[in-house]
Amino acid sequence: MSETENVTAAVEPYVINSYGVSNELLSEGAALVRESGLRHVAFIMDGNGRWATARGLPRESGHKEGMVSFEQVAEYCADIGIRYVTVYAFSTENWKRPKHEVNAILMILRRYLKRAMKLIDQKRVHFVVIGDISPFDEKTQQLIRDLDEKSACYDRVLNIALNYGGRAELVHAMNEAVREKAEQGVSSAESMLLGMGELLTEDDIERHLYTYPCPPPDMIVRTAGDKRLSNFLLWQSSYSELIFSPVLWPDYRQGDVNDNIRDFLSRQRRYGGVESTVGVK
Ligand code: FPP
Repeated sequence: MSETENVTAAVEPYVINSYGVSNELLSEGAALVRESGLRHVAFIMDGNGRWATARGLPRESGHKEGMVSFEQVAEYCADIGIRYVTVYAFSTENWKRPKHEVNAILMILRRYLKRAMKLIDQKRVHFVVIGDISPFDEKTQQLIRDLDEKSACYDRVLNIALNYGGRAELVHAMNEAVREKAEQGVSSAESMLLGMGELLTEDDIERHLYTYPCPPPDMIVRTAGDKRLSNFLLWQSSYSELIFSPVLWPDYRQGDVNDNIRDFLSRQRRYGGVESTVGVK
């Protein structure tokens, strides 16, 4: 068996490739993932509006096209062996957009969730919505809960950040952690007096993050050129490699994923130490 066939065979059990990319690209992606040890990739899918405006189209068309990129990229990442993928689909700040644009994005998202529900056993991924879903109508909330529950048997995870904000997530996690302590009958004062140290540890907070139990993202890709995190995964990004791609999200495809993993491979990850490691060890 040739080297290439070997690589394809290694990822075969997970490969769906319904988007029809070449086996060469797929094999290259799988080899890059193996070499880098990438487990978790997160995407800030930016540039839908600019993509549409540049074509004289309404911004909503950019979001529609962005959905095509998202579906292809999410499936490709799973196919090449990335176990956890997180995407920023709608932030707590996105409600500030014109009502018609917010409605269009939410309609695209709702349609996607319904489609995903029907495709669980085809996609073989655990669909998890992260964020505060309480502002959504009861039907949508139920759909999100059902999707999570019915796909929980799959060990690959797709986190979709919806009405998500990193600061809000931390406030939620801290409140939950304090609630947990209170249920255990531990108060802050008692904890100090008994010499148990601070009431909360990093571990207590981590266990209540929306992304728990996923490991933190190894790399966060933001498309469309801006170089900021925009309130995304504030806790989890502490040692993530940040990759800024100039490509607008609706143009972002599988080959761009490979290019970005190559960039990731060139980084030296030291986690505050001095010994450099390339990729994840
Ligand atoms: C940012 O581009 C994009 C959004 C706010 C919406 C993202 C949603 C999708 C791509 C659909 C995918 C859906 C799911 C379920 C994951 P922008 O409008 O801020 O672009 P701009 O910066 O060029 O204006």
